[in-house]
Amino acid sequence: MRILKKLVGCCEIDLSNSEKNKRFGRALSELISILFAVVFGVGLSQLGELQGRHDLFVLLVGYAAITLSWWGYHYGTIEGPQETNALSYLIDVLIVALYWFLINWREPLYVVALLYVIMFVLYSLWEAIRWLQDRWNGASQATLCNVGFTIWAMWVVVAAVLEPRLPVVASVVPALLFLSVIGYRILIRHVYRQPTEQLQLARIPTKPLEAADAELVAMAASAREKALAKLSGYRVGAAVLARSGHVYVGCNIEFDNYSNTLHAEEVALAAGVVSGETEFEAVAIVTDAPSVAWPCGMCLQSLYELGGKDLRVIASNSHRQEVKAMRDLLPHAFAL
Ligand code: THU
Ligand code: ZN
Repeated sequence: MRILKKLVGCCEIDLSNSEKNKRFGRALSELISILFAVVFGVGLSQLGELQGRHDLFVLLVGYAAITLSWWGYHYGTIEGPQETNALSYLIDVLIVALYWFLINWREPLYVVALLYVIMFVLYSLWEAIRWLQDRWNGASQATLCNVGFTIWAMWVVVAAVLEPRLPVVASVVPALLFLSVIGYRILIRHVYRQPTEQLQLARIPTKPLEAADAELVAMAASAREKALAKLSGYRVGAAVLARSGHVYVGCNIEFDNYSNTLHAEEVALAAGVVSGETEFEAVAIVTDAPSVAWPCGMCLQSLYELGGKDLRVIASNSHRQEVKAMRDLLPHAFAL
């Protein structure tokens, strides 16, 4: 019972906490994805002992495994563009066709290794196309990552071709392939999690607090230049520093019907969130009011929910700068 409780604790199952559940779901789909890749590899390495209609069975199991693996992976973790999914299924189909061709042709070790080479080559091409089209700023890294794994998998093919009958090679090569799959997934996941470049203005490295805050204020001041404040003439600039180290900026935008007005802090938070950020550690607000202006009640609530009690709030005008913690500005925040 205690072991079970511990296990449940590790998995962070808590039906009342949707954020935890989401994280658990992601971890689970990642695990399922890796397990399927391993099962797929094991299935392939057994092919030599199977014949005739067994091959068809293994083919179907392999296809189901790889499809489910992609499903779990893409819907669970990758936050890349939509077409990622359609293309990956197309690649899956190509892999299965090649798989069918190769199992009737060579030994299992070649089959496994060659499949990986083909898969990584296809991924390299696909990411290189996105790189050339400037579609996504992570595409260059994704391409390099895939090229790296292509070379790695080719090396495995060479090892399998040179020493196919040595038992050491027979067991080491599949092990290396499994490691490649897991390594690839971990690496590519990191690449896909990068925020989108258009909205990501700068990265503040770890610096003394004051220096980082001053930079944040400078960025809020330049965002303020973009403010559209035709109704009030009161221009506001904001910059939020995400846990990742990236900064996102916003300005207030006013509309003729008054109520559509967007606050600078809202715009900055939205830019961060749409780039994949969920946690923030500081916000700077710049106005030209005679005394520094703190965020309004509505913005404090939003900032509190994405930054917590410890969020640093820096309010600044042209001659003055003040820092307060969220816990002091909104001591009794609303929470569901
Ligand atoms: N404003 C902000 O941008 N942030 C706040 O927290 C307070 C108010 C903007 C909205 C509007 O365009 C102008 O300031 C005057 O209210
Ligand atoms: Zn506000």
